[in-house]
Amino acid sequence: MTTRQNSSVLFIMGVSGSGKTHIGQLLAKALDISFIDADDYHSQSSIDKMSTGIPLTDADRYPWLDRLHQIAQRHLDIGCVIACSALKASYRQRLSTDISQKVSWIYLKGDFDIIYTRMQHRKDHFMGAEMLKSQFDTMEEPEDALVVNIEDSAEAIVSTIKNKLNMKAEIGVIGMGVMGKSLSRNLARNGFSIALYNRHVDGLEEDVAANFKSAHSELVSALAFDDLESFVESLASPRKILLMVNAGAAVDAVIQSLIDYLDPEDIILDAGNSHYLETNRRLQMLESKGIYFIGTGVSGGEKGALLGPSIMPSGVYEAYQKVEQYLTTIAAKDSNQEPCCTYVGRQGSGHFVKMIHNGIEYAEMQLLAECYAILKNQGMTNPQMADTMEAWKPDCDSYLLGITIDILRKKEAGSYLLDQVLDQAANKGTGKWATSTVADSGEAATMIPTALFARYLSAFKTKRQEAEALFTSNKQSNSISTSVLRDAYQFARIINHHQGFSLIDSVSAEHDWNVNLSEIARIWSEGCIIKSDLIKQLVNTFKQGGSIMFNTPWSTTLSQGYASIQSVVIESVQSQLHTPCLSEALSYFNGMKIGSGSANLIQAQRDYFGAHTYKRIDDPKGKSHHSDWTTTTD
Ligand code: 6PG
Repeated sequence: MTTRQNSSVLFIMGVSGSGKTHIGQLLAKALDISFIDADDYHSQSSIDKMSTGIPLTDADRYPWLDRLHQIAQRHLDIGCVIACSALKASYRQRLSTDISQKVSWIYLKGDFDIIYTRMQHRKDHFMGAEMLKSQFDTMEEPEDALVVNIEDSAEAIVSTIKNKLNMKAEIGVIGMGVMGKSLSRNLARNGFSIALYNRHVDGLEEDVAANFKSAHSELVSALAFDDLESFVESLASPRKILLMVNAGAAVDAVIQSLIDYLDPEDIILDAGNSHYLETNRRLQMLESKGIYFIGTGVSGGEKGALLGPSIMPSGVYEAYQKVEQYLTTIAAKDSNQEPCCTYVGRQGSGHFVKMIHNGIEYAEMQLLAECYAILKNQGMTNPQMADTMEAWKPDCDSYLLGITIDILRKKEAGSYLLDQVLDQAANKGTGKWATSTVADSGEAATMIPTALFARYLSAFKTKRQEAEALFTSNKQSNSISTSVLRDAYQFARIINHHQGFSLIDSVSAEHDWNVNLSEIARIWSEGCIIKSDLIKQLVNTFKQGGSIMFNTPWSTTLSQGYASIQSVVIESVQSQLHTPCLSEALSYFNGMKIGSGSANLIQAQRDYFGAHTYKRIDDPKGKSHHSDWTTTTD
């Protein structure tokens, strides 16, 4: 039991009808400990007696109390909640003999009339309501119990009990930004006791955690702080602290300020979009102090974090096990109701896969933007484009397709809002990191860099306008059918996912992370921004092994979609459209399916000017050769 300070056995007592069982069950669930209903341990003769309305004598009760005492003793280490009427002081003494230091009493107190009315509505209890009066007469109210009024709601009673017993919070959240707030509410809604912290900045960030707590009913029992030491003090050991601060220097600054207050075995989780190499560094630094560090990707935006995100944790497995229940409980659930959260691997592998998730996200978004450009160029209105994309859903549904349709339909004051949005795409850095990683990895994952550079190009608005005026030419509209465009779009998405997952596989092998691609596809099947029908199907593809492009049904879809992507790219070029990701998907595919390419010339050029050597196809030993390219022999 991690949440109590002193006691490990909680006896919840009161007369029949006071709600001992219900409240006890809820309390046990909230504390993640066992629930024991004392009524289940009466002897048959006592049950028979009670059901015929004969009150039990002390002699009837003693063996029952002794049995419960033994059960309490067995639960001292792991904790439990025992619902037991325990009306007399002597019964309570018997129940807590030799273990009173480890026992707490919670007395559910209520008026006779209220409880009597409740009892009259109970059908399945072996004790009739008429017994109630004798229970009230017998009751010797405890002096050392936490007394709780039963008139509150069950949830409020549980929360009062937890607070009054001075229970420590199970998990703390630092950073009350959009994602920190949503994850906190998600944790609280799922019954975890939480502590919230947001720094104090005069005039700028004042009482942020306290104000947030009071704005949401599910946070009624959350503890709110703007003093870091008190926040850390409020957490049960080993402490579990979820950082939801901006990636980069802020993460290091918070870790530094936390270190002095932490003990070995405490766990810090960084759930922001941190760079995986930074996560590796932080993990090593904290490891040297005996503190665990879990870098975890979290995807789903504000709504996902609140209702169920996709979660990608990594680090030392033993540390993950200690936080697993929190992460899996708040995560989205897949189609089999399994949590969209899995242990990704060692080091910063969780942040690595999140970074590639974002890279795939960039390319998926860019592909939709290119389809939008093509359809717009055909003269379609926004709602016509939305209807067109709606019709694509049976073949290529995804969260991003869905939001694109919503965006196309959104009107503000009678006009389409999208038409008022400036065409300069921003980014927060994960696409840039993913692009650098592509370059470092030696993988030809070209779609991510292409999507990133399309965003970069969009930023040059003034230059683009200048160039448009300078290079004026007759633009023509294209005549691509919507089904051909849909097939080209799906073709490019398959290439995008093929590249992204191959990149994960390759970097995982390099770091010996053993990332399970099928599991990654599974946890991306719900909760995250790139969730889609395609991702759902990839769960099985990766179970069979191999990569997307070389496996059915994807190889068949690529073969069938090839003519479509060719005509879309040709028409887009002729229409002078900027469709780099569609073009790149085709280009990559063409490059990959050329068994004998033109890189022999590159090698010859390198050897010519730099004596970099080359390999010969007529030398099966694979030796390096160098030639004088200026002289020729016959
Ligand atoms: C997610 C998103 C999320 C965020 C991106 C935005 O999975 O929930 O990817 O992490 O939306 O970081 O990234 P850009 O600002 O770089 O587009």
